[in-house]
Amino acid sequence: MTEEKHCLFTIFGATGDLAKRKLYPSLFRLYKKKEKQKHFAVIGTARRPWTDDFYRQVVIESISELVENNEEQAIYFASHFYYQSHDAKDTEHYITLKKLGEKLKKTYQTNGNQIFYLAMAPHFFGSIVSHLKSQRILTKKGFERLIIEKPFGSNLKTATILNKEITKSFPEKDIFRIDHYLGKEMIQNISAVRFGNLVFEALWNKEYINNVQITFAESIGVEERAEYYETSGALRDMVQNHILQVLSLLAMEAPKRFEEKEIRQEKIKALQAIRQYSEEEALKNFIPGQYAAGDFDGEHFLGYCEEQGVAENSTTETFVAGKFFIDNERWQGVPFYVRTGKRLTEKGTRINIIFKKVLENLFDEQSNSMASPNVLTIYIQPTEGFSLLLNGKEVGKGFKLAPLKLQYRHDATILSNSAEAYEKLILDVLNGKRANFSHWDEVARSWELIDVIRNAWDNNLKEIPKYKVHTMGPYEALELLKENGCHWEWKPDEWYIQRGKL
Ligand code: BG6
Repeated sequence: MTEEKHCLFTIFGATGDLAKRKLYPSLFRLYKKKEKQKHFAVIGTARRPWTDDFYRQVVIESISELVENNEEQAIYFASHFYYQSHDAKDTEHYITLKKLGEKLKKTYQTNGNQIFYLAMAPHFFGSIVSHLKSQRILTKKGFERLIIEKPFGSNLKTATILNKEITKSFPEKDIFRIDHYLGKEMIQNISAVRFGNLVFEALWNKEYINNVQITFAESIGVEERAEYYETSGALRDMVQNHILQVLSLLAMEAPKRFEEKEIRQEKIKALQAIRQYSEEEALKNFIPGQYAAGDFDGEHFLGYCEEQGVAENSTTETFVAGKFFIDNERWQGVPFYVRTGKRLTEKGTRINIIFKKVLENLFDEQSNSMASPNVLTIYIQPTEGFSLLLNGKEVGKGFKLAPLKLQYRHDATILSNSAEAYEKLILDVLNGKRANFSHWDEVARSWELIDVIRNAWDNNLKEIPKYKVHTMGPYEALELLKENGCHWEWKPDEWYIQRGKL
């Protein structure tokens, strides 16, 4: 049996969507897997004046799908939750919080271990963390770890200020910056595919790879998050964190050992080697887009500027496509294309590694057919798995090449038993494992790269290219690849376009 990690959790933002959708279910899953049993308690804080009973009811509702007729278990689990109404900027409130924490530490024998989860608006982060120290809620009696949700700043300058603030109270080794993609099964699988298979690792370089494509597509619009999204846009929301993290995992050199420190060093080196564009280069290599109103499948969809909470003439990008280069021995000259957006054709996160073509002449004359490039695809979500596109001979007379695809998709049993991203990440924090979190050096370097693109757009773009809902972005995003003789490998909109549905 797993040994239980004793711990008191304090969640700031306990009434919020993230807490209900992700944190309580994840804590419950860990409880069911006996990672936590008796010696844990959770203090939920937020502004609203809830009672413990009401809070526990909310927790029970949020885990209802996982309860499986064992209501007693759910009630026992929820009995470990306590609510404290809280104004993050009011010192008095931290005194009450401290008292409650001390009581719970004794009741549940949490050995002084504490985890603080900041699941709320980032402008409170600094104030909360400094109060934790000044009000001596941090006692150094056990481990004391901070989990912090994104956004971590809005550019290098604000991120640095925030980082200075929080490192006054927590050393880097105790700060766990969440990038929930790093908890996803298939992202963790990137390294297994690369380093566990000589057939790929031997070819993982500029000699054999033509280009790499990373797509994070969403079919949803901005939903209720306009207030945040208006200040962020797709570049800050997805590229600065998730996409650059994935890119660094794909591009890094093999770590000496598959350990946190060694992996991190290699990821940072890869990020450092990404070409730092001038504003002019950034304008050429990064394309923003914004979804316009339109119809799809008999339904009308609002344009971004018509969504609630969005300024009528907003130029916030809901889409970005771009090209990075990595200036090192392994990758010189290989474009890494990235794209992400809302209201695209479908939800899908995938990586395509496009290999170089074989010498065409060999088959040309007799077969009148050309070998297609091999493509390794890593499917992150909604399906998980890999495929490899190869060339074979078409069955029958003559000699004609035909593409064939080897596929592996995780089956349903594996998927239902596998841990959710947040569950894995919370368990990592309990165990003090930091490999799946963003280190400050990674965050800082990512902002450096992103700031130039942001500034280039802010200083130069008068208009933002629009795209039709349910397409894969503006026309300019296709042009971006053409100049290198490439095209997007994944074109889910083509099926609809060919049938006149788009
Ligand atoms: C978040 C972004 O980090 O990731 C959202 O803020 C986005 O805008 C979400 O929708 C996508 O995550 P997932 O796990 O649903 O692919």
